[in-house]
Amino acid sequence: MQFGRFDDEIREYVITTPRTPYPWINYLGTKEFFSLISHTGGGYCFYRDARFRRLLRYRYNNVPTDVGARALYIRDGDDVWTPAWKPMKSALDRFECRHGLGMTTIVGERNGVRAATTFLVPLGETAEIWRLTLSNNSDTAKKLTVFSFVEFCLWNAWDDQNNFQRNFSTGEVEVDGSAIYHVTEYRERRNHYAVFGVNAPLTGFDTDRETFLGPDNGLHEPAVVLDGAPRNSIASGWAPIASHCVEVELAPGQQRDLVFTLGYVENPANAKWEQPGVVNKSPARALLSRFSDPRQVEAAVDALRDYWSSLLETYALDSPDERLDRMVNVWNPYQCMVTFNMSRSASYFESGIGRGMGFRDSNQDLLGFVHLVPERARQRILDIAATQFPDGSAYHQYQPLTKQGNHDIGAGFNDDPLWLIIGTAAYIKETGDFGILSEEVPFDNDNSNTASLFEHLRRSFHFTLDNLGPHGLPLIGRADWNDCLNLNCFSEDPDEPYQTTANREGRTAESVFIAGQLVYAAPDYADLAQHMGFDDEATAAREHGAGMEAAILEHAWDGEWFLRAYDFFGEKVGSHENEEGQIFIEPQGFCVMAGVGLEDGKAIRALDSVAEHLATPYGIVLNQPPYSRYHLELGEISSYPPGYKENAGIFCHNNPWVMIAETRIGRGDRAFDYYRRIAPAYLEEISEIHRTEPYVYSQMVAGRDAVREGEAKNSWLTGTAAWNYVAIAHHMLGVRPELGGLRVSPCIGTEIPSFTVTRRCRGGTYRIRVANSLKHGEPKLTVDGIAVEGTLVPYAPAGATVEVECET
Ligand code: GLC
Ligand code: GLC
Repeated sequence: MQFGRFDDEIREYVITTPRTPYPWINYLGTKEFFSLISHTGGGYCFYRDARFRRLLRYRYNNVPTDVGARALYIRDGDDVWTPAWKPMKSALDRFECRHGLGMTTIVGERNGVRAATTFLVPLGETAEIWRLTLSNNSDTAKKLTVFSFVEFCLWNAWDDQNNFQRNFSTGEVEVDGSAIYHVTEYRERRNHYAVFGVNAPLTGFDTDRETFLGPDNGLHEPAVVLDGAPRNSIASGWAPIASHCVEVELAPGQQRDLVFTLGYVENPANAKWEQPGVVNKSPARALLSRFSDPRQVEAAVDALRDYWSSLLETYALDSPDERLDRMVNVWNPYQCMVTFNMSRSASYFESGIGRGMGFRDSNQDLLGFVHLVPERARQRILDIAATQFPDGSAYHQYQPLTKQGNHDIGAGFNDDPLWLIIGTAAYIKETGDFGILSEEVPFDNDNSNTASLFEHLRRSFHFTLDNLGPHGLPLIGRADWNDCLNLNCFSEDPDEPYQTTANREGRTAESVFIAGQLVYAAPDYADLAQHMGFDDEATAAREHGAGMEAAILEHAWDGEWFLRAYDFFGEKVGSHENEEGQIFIEPQGFCVMAGVGLEDGKAIRALDSVAEHLATPYGIVLNQPPYSRYHLELGEISSYPPGYKENAGIFCHNNPWVMIAETRIGRGDRAFDYYRRIAPAYLEEISEIHRTEPYVYSQMVAGRDAVREGEAKNSWLTGTAAWNYVAIAHHMLGVRPELGGLRVSPCIGTEIPSFTVTRRCRGGTYRIRVANSLKHGEPKLTVDGIAVEGTLVPYAPAGATVEVECET
C-alpha cells in the first residue's frame, strides 16, 4: 500500500493522507540551524546542538505520537481547524504534504479555505520560516482568525525534561509589536534568545501555555482558539510559548500570505543589552525584516532549490529504472547530507540529548557526503581527529557545540581509529587535497599536544597493530562496528550500560571485523604514507595488511564462511560449532570487500553462505540463528528478541558491504538484487509493512525471526545512507574517484542494460556512457574517442569535459 508518490520533476515526495503508518519526516537547514518536521507539522528545531541549543520542546514517545511543538489554527466563523491535520485531526477536504530538499509544504483545505504552509530554513539563516498562503476558494467572503503556536524548550533539552524544581521558575518572554521573544536565562549566562514574529499586526498574542490551552486541555483544544480570543498572557516561569493572533479577511478568490519567522539570535557578550535590562533586539529585527515580504521567502526558496540542484549535479544518473534514478540522484545523497549534519543526534528515534557525533559514524557518513561539499568534509575530519587520544584510540562520541569528547562514554571501541583512515582517504580521493595530511591537529582537543593529521592516521593504524590478541587478530575492546557485541562486558546488572561496562580484564577477545577493516584500510594508508615520503612506513603497512589477511585465512575461516570473533575465553563466535549465532554478515562483507579470499575461493564461498543462510526477501539479516536466550559472554546482542536490531535484524548498514563484495567477485546481478531489497524507493508499495518513510533508509528492518518481519525502525540517521550510496554509485554503477584518476568499472548485472553518469570531480566533468552488454571480463573504455588500457580515467584539468564510453 502507498501513502503518497514521488514527484521526480521537483524532487519531492508527496504524501496524500495524514494517516501514514508512522510520522514521515523531513529535515530543514543546511549548516547551523536545523529543524525536524513531520508530514503533519510536528517536530522541533535547534541551533547546532540538539541538546544544548534546542528552541522548541518536543515530547518523544508521546501519546498520541507526534504532537507539538508547532501548530497553526484557523477560525472560520465558529469552525476551528488545523490545516496540517494535527493537532486537532480536523476532517479536511484535501490534505497534501510535500517533503522536498530542505523544504516542506503542508496543504489543508476545508470549507473552501485552502491553507498551504511552506517551511524552510533559508541558506545562511538561523531561522525557520513558515509561509502560510491562505486562499478563499469559496464564493462567500471569509473572515478568518489565524493562531500560531510554538512551545519553547528552555534551551538544554535534557535539563528541560528533568529539572522542574528550577525550570518552572525561570521562563521569561518579551513581546515587542508582532515579535515574541523567548529570553529565558538571558539575564544570566546566555547570550542567545529566540524570536517568533509575523509580518502582520496582531489582534493579540499569548505566551503562557496554561493560559493558551486552559489547565486541562491538550493542543487539540486550546481554550484561546476555541474562544476566538487571545488573552495577551505574559509567561512568568512555567511553560513559555508564543502564539500570534492575526485577522485575515478574504473576498472570494482572494489570497493572502503570512510569513512567520522563528529565529535563533546570538549577541556578542559585549552587546547583550540595548540599555541596562533591555535585550538587544536589533539582530532579530534585521532578521524579521529580511522575511517581511512573501517575495523574500520566494527568493529564499529559489536559492535553496538552486543550491540543491548544483550539489546534485556532482553525480547524475540517467538509467532506464526510475526508482534507481531517484535513489541515486536525489534521495540517497539527500539522506547522506542529513546524516553528515546530524550524525546520530536528532531524529524521531534519536532524542537529540543522548548521542553527539560518533567517531565511527561521522567518518562513515563522510563516504556518501564528501563529493557534495568537500570543504565541510575537510573540517569534519579535522574535528574528528582532534578527539583522538595520543595512543591512537578515540573518544567514541563528541558534542558538536564544544567539539569535546564525551567522557561518559569514553574510548575502547577498537574499530574507531581505523575509520579515520577510511574517511580521510575518501576525502583525498575526491579532492586530491593531500595538504590536509599536514594540518596540525590536537589530541584530545589539547592544543599543547598536536601532530599532523597524517600522524593521527599513523597512530590509528598502529593502535590496531599494537592491540592484537592470541591469533594475531585485533582485540575488540568494548565492541567493534557491532555496538552490541560486548565480549568483555559480562553484565548481570540491568542498571548498567553494555557499552561502558567492562567487568573482566582480558586480552583475548578478538574481532574478525576489525581484521577485515585493517586489510581494507592498509592500501589506502600505504598510499598516503608514500605520498608523504614515508616509503618505509608504506612498505610496512602493505606487509601488515598482507599479514592480517594471512591471519584471517588461517585463524578466522570456519569452513564455509568467516568467523565473527573469538570471545573472552578464546571460544569462536559465528562458527558452525556454535549453537546459535553461527554465521554473521559483517566479516563476510568486510573481508571480501577488502579482498580477503579472492584468490583461494573463500570469498565466493563466504558470499554463497550469505545467500544461503542470511538473505531474505527484505534484506540480509545480521546473523543466524538468532540468540534465543541471554548470553552473558556476548553482551547486548543477545538481549534483543530474535529478529530485531543486532540479533538477526536486517541491519541495512552492512548489507552494502555484501553488495560491494559481490561486485568484487563479478556478481553484479546479485549485488543489484540485494540493493533493491532494501532501497526505500523499491519498497514504496509495501509501506504498510515497512512503515517508515519510502524516501530514506532505515537503520533496521525486522528480520525473518521477528514477530513483525519487514517492519523498519530508526529511519534517517544511519550509516546505511553512506554505504548504500558507495555500493551503488561507486561499485555497481562503478564510477569512483581514486588517487590516480576516476575509476569507471561498472558491475550491475543485466537489469540495467545501459546508463549514463555525469560526474563532476576536481573541477572536471565526465560524461560516462555505459553499454552494459556483459561481453567482456573487464570493461573496455574509450576516453574522448581513444581506446585506453584498464579502467582508470586520468583526471582532466579543471573546466574540461571528458567523454567516456564504456562497454562491459
Ligand atoms: C532545590 C535544590 C536543593 C536546594 C534548594 C534551595 O530544592 O534541590 O538542593 O537546597 O533548591 O536552593
Ligand atoms: C548504530 C550505531 C553504529 C553501530 C551500529 C551497529 O547504528 O550508530 O555506530 O555501528 O549501530 O551496532
